[in-house]
Amino acid sequence: MSDARLLSALSSLSHVAKQLDVAPPAPPALDANCVKLNMNENPFPLPPIVRQSAIAALEQHYLYPENENADLREAAACVYGLSADQVIAGNGSSELLGLVYKAFLAPGDTVAMISPGFSFNRKLAMLHEAQFLEVGWGKTHSLPTHQLLFGPARDAKFIVLANPNNPTGTFVPIADIERLVAQSDRLIVLDEAYVDFAPDNGLRLVNRYSNLLVLRTFSKSYATAGLRIGFGFGHPELIGRLRTMQNLFNMNVIGHAVGASIIAHRAAFEENHQRIMLARERTTIELSKLGFSVLPSHANFLLARVPGEHDGAWWQAALQGHNVLVAFFPENGLENFIRIAIGTDTQMDTFLSAVGDISRSSL
Ligand SMILES: Cc1ncc(COP(=O)(O)O)c(C=O)c1O
Repeated sequence: MSDARLLSALSSLSHVAKQLDVAPPAPPALDANCVKLNMNENPFPLPPIVRQSAIAALEQHYLYPENENADLREAAACVYGLSADQVIAGNGSSELLGLVYKAFLAPGDTVAMISPGFSFNRKLAMLHEAQFLEVGWGKTHSLPTHQLLFGPARDAKFIVLANPNNPTGTFVPIADIERLVAQSDRLIVLDEAYVDFAPDNGLRLVNRYSNLLVLRTFSKSYATAGLRIGFGFGHPELIGRLRTMQNLFNMNVIGHAVGASIIAHRAAFEENHQRIMLARERTTIELSKLGFSVLPSHANFLLARVPGEHDGAWWQAALQGHNVLVAFFPENGLENFIRIAIGTDTQMDTFLSAVGDISRSSL
């Protein structure tokens, strides 16, 4: 395409698309030996029986997946004590989050998120030309209920809250969330992506409050970020409306088979969850000895304030120099923090020894 043709074609882009930056060229390929702790993935292998289900599903590669994700929704409903019409299944929970934005927002509307929170929400608000209202967490990361109910967020079309929260890893008691949901006449989206590493969850509220949507993902606690399996749980009317907006055949046959197999063999993941929680405690202690202050985490990652003169960006780059990838967030007052996913014991040893080397050499 000549440049004039390209310019002419791109001139028809929507107003929103024109505002977005062009996606950057592909990042450099990852070193196969790097310790990847920047995306809150779960590096443990799948139980053999779950793995087998993926291989068996490949036999159906030429068939469209089951329509409406019916079997997977039924399996999830059964194990979570709901009915299938209270369950929507997605190509990861981020697809479901996107559907909520599409369903509830018109240009100029407001959506509120407790901040700092999952930054993908900001992009979704922008795509829908909505105002993105960030309401700060209360003291010691408590729920800012009063502000959500009576501050500017009272006009928001819906409120998004992750518990445990990303990127802080902090957890608020379900009783506090229930108080918010009970007093609000807005939709509350409770994103429980990390809840299997936490002491409690809000699923029991689904049958009590019709203005609640709980999102879950198998990416984190069931080690399937690459297979894209997520769920939403809510009132049948809300779920039904979201389902009608979903893409045809949004999931694939492998996601269906693995999702159902995980549900059938959930107990096989208990050891994995325990190992991650133990490694989380050990890493917290070791990082504290090295001068970091680590927020109490109930997720599969830690948010740590870095010690000394350098900021989080410097530490991220220094760790990358040791072939260890961690996340850094330049906004929301997080300039002096890094976020570290909890991987295998060997990965955490490599990370901690890199931090020790960097600390010694920067003294
Ligand atoms: C809070 C939160 N919600 C949702 C997601 C998206 O998960 P999924 O892989 O299911 O799209 C993430 C991923 O990092 C997350 O941190």
